[in-house]
Amino acid sequence: MPTNKKVLSQKKDLVLCEDGSYTLFSHDFNEPYHSTKDGALHESLEKHVKPSLALKANEEKLTILDICFGLGYNTFATLYYIQKHKLKTKIHILSPEFDEDLVRSLDSFKFPPEFDDIKHIIKVVSKDFYYEDEQFKIEVLLGDARQSIPNITEKIDIIYQDAFSPAHNPLLWTYEWFKDVRALCHDDAILTTYSTAAAIRLGLYENGFYIFVHRAEMMRYSTVASLKMLEGLEYIDMELKKVRNTEARSMKDEDY
Ligand SMILES: C[S@@+](CC[C@H](N)C(=O)[O-])C[C@H]1O[C@@H](n2cnc3c(N)ncnc32)[C@H](O)[C@@H]1O
Repeated sequence: MPTNKKVLSQKKDLVLCEDGSYTLFSHDFNEPYHSTKDGALHESLEKHVKPSLALKANEEKLTILDICFGLGYNTFATLYYIQKHKLKTKIHILSPEFDEDLVRSLDSFKFPPEFDDIKHIIKVVSKDFYYEDEQFKIEVLLGDARQSIPNITEKIDIIYQDAFSPAHNPLLWTYEWFKDVRALCHDDAILTTYSTAAAIRLGLYENGFYIFVHRAEMMRYSTVASLKMLEGLEYIDMELKKVRNTEARSMKDEDY
Protein backbone atom coordinates (compact mmCIF):
# COMPACT_ATOMS: atom_id res chain seq x y z
CA MET A 1 0.00 0.00 0.00
CA PRO A 2 1.61 3.32 -1.01
CA THR A 3 1.84 5.80 1.83
CA ASN A 4 2.39 9.50 1.81
CA LYS A 5 5.93 10.20 2.97
CA LYS A 6 5.48 13.94 3.16
CA VAL A 7 6.59 15.59 6.42
CA LEU A 8 4.24 18.53 6.85
CA SER A 9 5.60 21.94 7.90
CA GLN A 10 1.95 23.01 8.36
CA LYS A 11 2.76 26.49 7.04
CA LYS A 12 -0.32 28.08 5.49
CA ASP A 13 -1.42 31.59 4.50
CA LEU A 14 -4.96 32.95 4.45
CA VAL A 15 -6.05 33.98 0.93
CA LEU A 16 -9.13 35.94 -0.17
CA CYS A 17 -10.73 34.43 -3.30
CA GLU A 18 -12.50 36.35 -6.05
CA ASP A 19 -15.95 35.21 -4.82
CA GLY A 20 -15.27 36.84 -1.42
CA SER A 21 -14.71 33.55 0.44
CA TYR A 22 -11.40 32.69 2.10
CA THR A 23 -9.11 29.75 1.48
CA LEU A 24 -5.57 28.84 2.52
CA PHE A 25 -2.33 28.51 0.60
CA SER A 26 -0.38 25.38 1.60
CA HIS A 27 3.40 25.74 1.60
CA ASP A 28 3.69 21.95 1.93
CA PHE A 29 1.88 21.37 -1.36
CA ASN A 30 2.81 24.77 -2.82
CA GLU A 31 -0.74 25.52 -3.91
CA PRO A 32 -4.01 26.97 -2.61
CA TYR A 33 -6.75 24.71 -1.23
CA HIS A 34 -9.14 26.15 -3.84
CA SER A 35 -8.96 28.01 -7.12
CA THR A 36 -8.68 31.60 -5.91
CA LYS A 37 -10.20 32.74 -9.22
CA ASP A 38 -13.26 30.44 -9.05
CA GLY A 39 -13.52 30.97 -5.26
CA ALA A 40 -13.69 28.43 -2.45
CA LEU A 41 -17.46 28.48 -1.88
CA HIS A 42 -18.35 29.03 -5.55
CA GLU A 43 -16.05 26.17 -6.63
CA SER A 44 -17.49 23.76 -4.05
CA LEU A 45 -21.04 24.55 -5.05
CA GLU A 46 -20.58 24.63 -8.82
CA LYS A 47 -18.04 21.85 -9.40
CA HIS A 48 -19.18 19.37 -6.75
CA VAL A 49 -22.39 19.99 -4.82
CA LYS A 50 -24.83 21.21 -7.50
CA PRO A 51 -23.97 18.72 -10.28
CA SER A 52 -23.95 15.78 -7.82
CA LEU A 53 -27.19 16.62 -6.07
CA ALA A 54 -28.88 17.33 -9.42
CA LEU A 55 -27.87 13.91 -10.75
CA LYS A 56 -28.99 12.22 -7.51
CA ALA A 57 -32.10 14.37 -6.96
CA ASN A 58 -34.48 11.46 -6.36
CA GLU A 59 -32.51 9.62 -3.69
CA GLU A 60 -33.75 9.56 -0.09
CA LYS A 61 -30.28 8.90 1.29
CA LEU A 62 -26.85 9.66 -0.14
CA THR A 63 -23.42 8.57 1.01
CA ILE A 64 -20.67 10.95 -0.11
CA LEU A 65 -16.91 10.41 -0.12
CA ASP A 66 -15.27 13.84 0.19
CA ILE A 67 -11.59 13.56 -0.91
CA CYS A 68 -10.13 15.20 1.18
CA PHE A 69 -11.69 17.23 4.01
CA GLY A 70 -9.26 20.19 4.05
CA LEU A 71 -11.25 23.26 5.15
CA GLY A 72 -14.44 21.25 4.82
CA TYR A 73 -15.93 23.52 2.15
CA ASN A 74 -17.34 20.66 0.07
CA THR A 75 -18.93 19.03 3.10
CA PHE A 76 -20.29 22.27 4.57
CA ALA A 77 -21.47 23.56 1.16
CA THR A 78 -23.43 20.30 0.76
CA LEU A 79 -25.22 20.92 4.08
CA TYR A 80 -25.76 24.60 3.21
CA TYR A 81 -27.29 23.68 -0.17
CA ILE A 82 -29.55 20.97 1.28
CA GLN A 83 -30.83 23.32 4.00
CA LYS A 84 -31.24 26.29 1.64
CA HIS A 85 -33.39 24.22 -0.73
CA LYS A 86 -35.18 22.44 2.12
CA LEU A 87 -34.26 19.03 0.69
CA LYS A 88 -35.17 16.01 2.79
CA THR A 89 -32.27 13.84 1.58
CA LYS A 90 -30.34 12.16 4.37
CA ILE A 91 -26.64 12.75 3.92
CA HIS A 92 -23.73 10.69 5.22
CA ILE A 93 -20.31 12.17 4.41
CA LEU A 94 -17.05 10.27 4.89
CA SER A 95 -13.95 12.36 4.43
CA PRO A 96 -10.29 11.35 4.83
CA GLU A 97 -7.82 13.97 6.04
CA PHE A 98 -4.32 13.62 7.48
CA ASP A 99 -3.97 17.22 8.71
CA GLU A 100 -5.58 16.90 12.15
CA ASP A 101 -4.49 20.39 13.28
CA LEU A 102 -6.18 21.97 10.27
CA VAL A 103 -9.53 20.35 11.11
CA ARG A 104 -9.14 21.41 14.76
CA SER A 105 -8.57 25.02 13.62
CA LEU A 106 -11.78 25.25 11.58
CA ASP A 107 -13.88 26.42 14.51
CA SER A 108 -12.19 29.82 14.15
CA PHE A 109 -11.78 29.86 10.33
CA LYS A 110 -13.29 32.85 8.50
CA PHE A 111 -16.03 30.97 6.64
CA PRO A 112 -18.53 32.84 4.41
CA PRO A 113 -21.87 34.03 5.88
CA GLU A 114 -23.61 31.23 3.94
CA PHE A 115 -22.25 28.87 6.64
CA ASP A 116 -23.64 30.90 9.58
CA ASP A 117 -26.58 28.51 10.07
CA ILE A 118 -24.28 25.49 10.33
CA LYS A 119 -21.70 27.07 12.67
CA HIS A 120 -22.73 24.66 15.42
CA ILE A 121 -21.97 21.72 13.10
CA ILE A 122 -18.57 23.15 12.12
CA LYS A 123 -17.76 23.55 15.82
CA VAL A 124 -18.59 19.92 16.62
CA VAL A 125 -16.75 18.51 13.58
CA SER A 126 -13.61 20.52 14.38
CA LYS A 127 -13.61 19.14 17.93
CA ASP A 128 -14.90 15.57 17.51
CA PHE A 129 -14.18 14.84 13.78
CA TYR A 130 -17.76 13.55 13.83
CA TYR A 131 -21.27 14.99 13.75
CA GLU A 132 -24.68 13.38 13.60
CA ASP A 133 -28.31 14.56 13.70
CA GLU A 134 -31.54 13.24 12.11
CA GLN A 135 -30.46 14.30 8.60
CA PHE A 136 -26.68 14.65 8.52
CA LYS A 137 -23.80 12.44 9.52
CA ILE A 138 -20.20 13.58 9.00
CA GLU A 139 -17.14 11.44 9.70
CA VAL A 140 -13.64 12.82 9.20
CA LEU A 141 -11.31 9.83 8.80
CA LEU A 142 -8.02 10.98 10.27
CA GLY A 143 -4.92 9.58 8.59
CA ASP A 144 -3.60 8.83 5.12
CA ALA A 145 -6.46 8.40 2.64
CA ARG A 146 -4.61 5.54 0.92
CA GLN A 147 -4.84 3.63 4.20
CA SER A 148 -8.35 4.65 5.27
CA ILE A 149 -10.20 4.20 1.96
CA PRO A 150 -9.85 0.38 1.74
CA ASN A 151 -11.27 0.11 5.28
CA ILE A 152 -14.55 1.88 4.46
CA THR A 153 -17.50 -0.52 4.52
CA GLU A 154 -20.27 1.87 3.36
CA LYS A 155 -21.30 1.94 -0.31
CA ILE A 156 -20.72 5.33 -1.91
CA ASP A 157 -23.11 7.29 -4.19
CA ILE A 158 -21.03 10.43 -4.80
CA ILE A 159 -17.30 11.15 -4.72
CA TYR A 160 -15.94 14.68 -4.55
CA GLN A 161 -12.40 14.13 -5.89
CA ASP A 162 -10.75 17.31 -4.59
CA ALA A 163 -7.18 16.46 -3.60
CA PHE A 164 -4.35 18.88 -4.32
CA SER A 165 -3.27 18.79 -7.96
CA PRO A 166 -1.98 15.58 -9.59
CA ALA A 167 1.46 17.17 -9.83
CA HIS A 168 1.65 17.85 -6.07
CA ASN A 169 -0.55 15.08 -4.61
CA PRO A 170 -0.04 12.25 -7.17
CA LEU A 171 -0.95 9.26 -4.97
CA LEU A 172 -4.55 10.47 -4.78
CA TRP A 173 -4.91 10.48 -8.60
CA THR A 174 -3.44 7.18 -9.81
CA TYR A 175 -5.16 4.26 -11.52
CA GLU A 176 -4.73 2.26 -8.29
CA TRP A 177 -6.26 5.04 -6.17
CA PHE A 178 -9.33 5.17 -8.44
CA LYS A 179 -9.49 1.35 -8.28
CA ASP A 180 -9.74 1.53 -4.47
CA VAL A 181 -12.37 4.27 -4.74
CA ARG A 182 -14.32 2.32 -7.39
CA ALA A 183 -14.42 -0.72 -5.08
CA LEU A 184 -16.53 1.26 -2.60
CA CYS A 185 -19.05 2.51 -5.14
CA HIS A 186 -22.68 1.69 -5.86
CA ASP A 187 -23.08 0.70 -9.54
CA ASP A 188 -24.52 4.13 -10.40
CA ALA A 189 -22.03 6.23 -8.42
CA ILE A 190 -20.79 9.54 -9.79
CA LEU A 191 -17.55 11.43 -9.22
CA THR A 192 -16.92 15.17 -9.59
CA THR A 193 -13.50 16.74 -9.99
CA TYR A 194 -11.90 19.98 -11.11
CA SER A 195 -9.29 18.03 -13.07
CA THR A 196 -9.80 17.80 -16.82
CA ALA A 197 -6.39 16.22 -17.53
CA ALA A 198 -6.29 13.30 -19.97
CA ALA A 199 -4.22 11.20 -17.51
CA ILE A 200 -6.86 11.61 -14.78
CA ARG A 201 -9.79 10.93 -17.06
CA LEU A 202 -7.97 7.82 -18.33
CA GLY A 203 -7.42 6.56 -14.76
CA LEU A 204 -11.17 6.88 -14.18
CA TYR A 205 -12.11 5.38 -17.56
CA GLU A 206 -9.84 2.36 -17.00
CA ASN A 207 -11.80 1.77 -13.78
CA GLY A 208 -15.16 1.70 -15.55
CA PHE A 209 -16.23 5.36 -15.36
CA TYR A 210 -17.87 7.17 -18.29
CA ILE A 211 -16.45 10.68 -18.65
CA PHE A 212 -18.41 13.92 -19.13
CA VAL A 213 -17.63 17.63 -19.29
CA HIS A 214 -19.37 19.78 -16.68
CA ARG A 215 -19.88 23.48 -17.42
CA ALA A 216 -21.10 26.06 -14.94
CA GLU A 217 -21.43 29.82 -15.01
CA MET A 218 -18.31 31.92 -14.31
CA MET A 219 -16.24 28.80 -13.85
CA ARG A 220 -13.62 26.85 -15.74
CA TYR A 221 -15.17 23.60 -17.03
CA SER A 222 -14.63 20.46 -14.92
CA THR A 223 -15.26 16.70 -15.03
CA VAL A 224 -18.17 14.51 -14.00
CA ALA A 225 -17.49 10.75 -14.16
CA SER A 226 -20.22 8.14 -13.80
CA LEU A 227 -20.34 4.35 -13.57
CA LYS A 228 -23.62 4.49 -15.51
CA MET A 229 -24.12 6.24 -18.87
CA LEU A 230 -25.81 9.63 -18.31
CA GLU A 231 -28.15 11.46 -20.66
CA GLY A 232 -28.00 15.21 -21.23
CA LEU A 233 -24.32 15.68 -20.35
CA GLU A 234 -21.43 16.32 -22.75
CA TYR A 235 -19.96 12.81 -23.18
CA ILE A 236 -16.27 12.28 -23.93
CA ASP A 237 -15.39 9.23 -25.99
CA MET A 238 -12.18 8.09 -24.27
CA GLU A 239 -11.42 5.46 -26.96
CA LEU A 240 -11.34 8.28 -29.49
CA LYS A 241 -9.16 10.35 -27.13
CA LYS A 242 -6.71 7.45 -26.92
CA VAL A 243 -6.51 7.25 -30.72
CA ARG A 244 -5.95 10.98 -31.00
CA ASN A 245 -3.46 11.16 -28.12
CA THR A 246 -1.37 7.99 -28.23
CA GLU A 247 1.01 9.38 -25.57
CA ALA A 248 -1.69 9.74 -22.90
CA ARG A 249 -1.36 7.35 -19.92
CA SER A 250 -3.09 7.09 -16.57
CA MET A 251 -0.88 7.80 -13.56
CA LYS A 252 0.45 4.70 -11.75
CA ASP A 253 1.48 4.18 -8.11
CA GLU A 254 4.84 2.73 -9.15
CA ASP A 255 5.87 6.10 -10.63
CA TYR A 256 5.67 7.94 -7.24
C1 LIG B 1 -7.18 20.70 -1.96
S1 LIG B 1 -7.30 20.34 -0.28
C2 LIG B 1 -8.98 19.85 -0.09
C3 LIG B 1 -9.92 21.00 -0.04
C4 LIG B 1 -11.24 20.61 0.57
N1 LIG B 1 -11.97 19.72 -0.29
C5 LIG B 1 -12.07 21.82 0.89
O1 LIG B 1 -13.17 21.97 0.34
O2 LIG B 1 -11.64 22.63 1.71
C6 LIG B 1 -6.50 18.76 -0.17
C7 LIG B 1 -6.48 18.18 1.22
O3 LIG B 1 -5.99 16.86 1.11
C8 LIG B 1 -5.24 16.57 2.27
N2 LIG B 1 -4.40 15.41 1.89
C9 LIG B 1 -3.43 15.36 0.95
N3 LIG B 1 -2.93 14.11 0.84
C10 LIG B 1 -3.61 13.35 1.72
C11 LIG B 1 -3.56 11.98 2.07
N4 LIG B 1 -2.71 11.15 1.48
N5 LIG B 1 -4.41 11.53 3.03
C12 LIG B 1 -5.28 12.37 3.65
N6 LIG B 1 -5.37 13.69 3.36
C13 LIG B 1 -4.55 14.18 2.40
C14 LIG B 1 -4.50 17.84 2.57
O4 LIG B 1 -4.09 17.90 3.91
C15 LIG B 1 -5.58 18.88 2.22
O5 LIG B 1 -6.31 19.22 3.36
